[in-house]
Amino acid sequence: MAINCKDNVITMETRNSTYQMKVEKGFLIHTYYGEKVGDMDMSYLSRTIDRGFSGIPEGVKGRDFSLDTQLLEYPSYGTGDFRNDCLRVEYADGSQVTDLKFVSCQVKDGKYALEGLPAMYQGDKKAETLEITLKDEFKNLEVVLYYGVFEELDIITRACRVINKGQEKVSLLRVYSMCVDFYDRDMDLIHFYGRHAMERVTERTPLHHGMQSVGSRRGYSSHQYNPMVILCKHNATEDAGICYGASFVYSGNFAAEAEVAQANNTRLTMGIHDAQFKFVLNPGEDFTAPEVLLSFSRQGLGQLSRNYHKAIRENICRGKYKNARRPILINNWEATYFDFNTDKLLDIAREAKKLGIEMLVMDDGWFGKRDDDNSGLGDWFVNEKKLPGGLKKLVDGVNDIGLKFGIWFEPEMVSEDSELFRAHPDWALTVPGRSFTRGRNQLVLDFSRQEVRDYIFDRMSEILESANIEYVKWDANRHLTDVWSAALPAEKQGEVFHRYILGLYDFLEKITQKFPDVLFEGCSGGGGRFDAGMMYYHPQIWCSDDTDAVERLVIQYGTSFGYPVSTVGSHVSVCPNHQTGRSVSMKTRGVVAMAGTFGYELDITKMSQEDKEEVKVQIEDFKKYYELIQRGDYYRLTDDGKTSNLVAWQFTSEDKKEALVNGVVLKTRANPVFITVYLKGLNPDSVYEIEGQSGRFTGAALMNGGYPIPVMPDDYQAVQLYVKEC
Ligand code: DGJ
Repeated sequence: MAINCKDNVITMETRNSTYQMKVEKGFLIHTYYGEKVGDMDMSYLSRTIDRGFSGIPEGVKGRDFSLDTQLLEYPSYGTGDFRNDCLRVEYADGSQVTDLKFVSCQVKDGKYALEGLPAMYQGDKKAETLEITLKDEFKNLEVVLYYGVFEELDIITRACRVINKGQEKVSLLRVYSMCVDFYDRDMDLIHFYGRHAMERVTERTPLHHGMQSVGSRRGYSSHQYNPMVILCKHNATEDAGICYGASFVYSGNFAAEAEVAQANNTRLTMGIHDAQFKFVLNPGEDFTAPEVLLSFSRQGLGQLSRNYHKAIRENICRGKYKNARRPILINNWEATYFDFNTDKLLDIAREAKKLGIEMLVMDDGWFGKRDDDNSGLGDWFVNEKKLPGGLKKLVDGVNDIGLKFGIWFEPEMVSEDSELFRAHPDWALTVPGRSFTRGRNQLVLDFSRQEVRDYIFDRMSEILESANIEYVKWDANRHLTDVWSAALPAEKQGEVFHRYILGLYDFLEKITQKFPDVLFEGCSGGGGRFDAGMMYYHPQIWCSDDTDAVERLVIQYGTSFGYPVSTVGSHVSVCPNHQTGRSVSMKTRGVVAMAGTFGYELDITKMSQEDKEEVKVQIEDFKKYYELIQRGDYYRLTDDGKTSNLVAWQFTSEDKKEALVNGVVLKTRANPVFITVYLKGLNPDSVYEIEGQSGRFTGAALMNGGYPIPVMPDDYQAVQLYVKEC
């Protein structure tokens, strides 16, 4: 058993970690999370002292034991722990004090599920569930903590449910999903910040006293901060050292907070942001906080990332395309923007077919009155001026050429200039009578409302049923403002942000079930909703609207800390690049896009013959390396260019018999300094060959001595080395 409850000590074990709690004086104390420690009560580490100005709980003798100085498992507000809390409740009498005591713990086979929320599922893995019940006796409020233990994957999931068992209504002001307390503060916080077209840039800073926090109050997980954070020892590197990850399986507002308190211990909390959050529970009602994936690694950040890659790829992503090879596609967005018609798309499809591309995706602009981004959203009816004869005629034409067909939707949005808005102005999130805020000239539909979802679901279904559509790109191009729902009373307006996400998940569940053969790609102005929650419905997400291969090195590097390559939407686009104006070689663009789902996004009818020949080779290479790239172990060989002139990464097969090393040398130099790349994850004793290069090398040589990168004549030249055991 991976979970053990004995003598008030509750222990969970994964392949490389131990997580432990203990019931002390009725409270649930956290005693340890880290490397495996065997059958050991770790509470000897938990010391007490009269620290002054720290509350002493009722019934506790002396002045040494305070919730303020203990490591706690799920801290609530108002009873003497003055650090950051997970639970804040306002009761009918206006009080906000909650005193959680341990009631029971229960171990179950298999992995729990969360109704209406994405979560890791068991699949073919071994998993166990721990449920711990805590209770505030005075108000009869119960909290159930859920833990899912995936031993082999080194993942422990956390979630919780608050149940109002009392006689009065209560308002939840904050329900975080988890807390992990640490004895010390000698750690760095790594998080992933950014902006539209530059998502998930890595930042690492030492913890300091007080709070370091990232989060989103934008309604979506956001481009600005990703809901995945890491705490690691100061000396942790890619390949060695202690690190902990927390990844939120949720796509809305979030907070991830690391607080170093008075006695130098650290508290990490994660959950739904409490900005405009107020959830009302009537007697008997409950609230579920979404899941967090925790992972521990002693082998540095690289191993931590690989733990997440496997967990998300195998136990979050679902559906036909979880394992099936995804088609190599061409998307018309950067080729035409809104200016296209059937003939133009068929021209692209014909040319694409000749090069080996497998699918044409028609992006924004095919519906309603949509020639720019001022109008049309919500009117999901084919624009026959652009597509004369309708969608089926186009799709059949594309299929006849030998390509699959995909289509773009932005289901959560509405333009003021649309039939839908004119008919249902109250379906958009706005506060009645108040002027409202636009984003990309559009408003957000109130997806917390069933009738709104039903309407969009029916329109979308009609389109998907009207032709042989095998892929949907699901976009969302603004964040939430003016959040107020016409369907809820005043006291429930604090629920709208979360109910929106629950509505979105409900929609996604239904549409992906109804169209199981369709490949859904998520997107929010590029990578603005790139989180493990969305990956439960969308096995891939457009990583960024920035398609410049050099900028993608930074974006994809940051993304790789928490998310597998199989989820990273990445395309070759035209040069000069539309976002940066930079030109780099076709080879570099291909190598960078191959660290993702791979495809093209340019006007292939205008491409030079030389580039076309190169595209053919790229496509063959990608197919050849597909399994290695999508399912191999991912190693970062350098950083994102902050400290080195080479950005390199490697895919290695699980059996270590083959590897693909990829790199881009950033700046060309006069009288250049030689660059060596050090491979990782090979079998030291095996002998390998490198395709197209002479010589044989032991794994130990390639990892310790490295392999010389050829001197290249221009900026941003790429290398790709296929390494195979002989
Ligand atoms: C933002 C997406 O990220 C782009 O790829 C494109 O689909 C546009 N929206 C279309 O409006």
